Amino acid sequence: MKVRYFGHSCFEIRTKGKIIIVDPFISGNPLASAIRAENLKADYLLITHGHGDHIGDAVEIAKRNGSVVISNFEVVTWFGEKGIEGHGMNLGGKHVFDFGIVKYVNAVHSSTLPDNSPGGNPGGFVLWNEEACLYIAGDTALTQDMQLIPMTCPKLSAAILPLGDNFTMGYEDALIVAGFIQCDRIIGCHFDTFDVIKVDHFAAKQAFATENKELILLNIGEDITI
Ligand code: NI
Ligand code: MN
Repeated sequence: MKVRYFGHSCFEIRTKGKIIIVDPFISGNPLASAIRAENLKADYLLITHGHGDHIGDAVEIAKRNGSVVISNFEVVTWFGEKGIEGHGMNLGGKHVFDFGIVKYVNAVHSSTLPDNSPGGNPGGFVLWNEEACLYIAGDTALTQDMQLIPMTCPKLSAAILPLGDNFTMGYEDALIVAGFIQCDRIIGCHFDTFDVIKVDHFAAKQAFATENKELILLNIGEDITI
């Protein structure tokens, strides 16, 4: 399973011959100016919640590629009104797709869509197949519910956690999550895009290293195999 970072909370996952893009906020992100959203291919889009910095270029990418949007029922309905195919889920549910199993899990956040229509409850995803198991937390606070993930999903290969603080948890709380989910390999997201979520990379990595955990802060365009 190959995971490439496109800035903010956007990742491209390649697994079992499919391309899955998570929260494609690209053209609106000056830090991601090297990435051309209009060139991206996607079989599926995973949308954690309705906020503009997660919906981003999703409508354009989905229409051009015929991508299937996987998200909560309300977000999928919103895309459906734009003629985009989707697969609606709700918290705690999992479903078998042709690239693997996806479980939609709790996040503590909010989820209004860009046109102010209600975006349902925000969530995260756990995605697994024979290659790997990846937790994508979405925008969330630290929550005790995260302790349920190792009880209900396969052993995580890695987890993508927000750590920019202010709108989500900061890296100190993300370090606690790593313990809750029993995963020592954390990929950071939702940092540096805006002034208010700028992170001291050295301090954050040091905090994880002190507890023998790895914090990976990918450069935009960089990828990692998990
Ligand atoms: Ni958000
Ligand atoms: Mn966000």
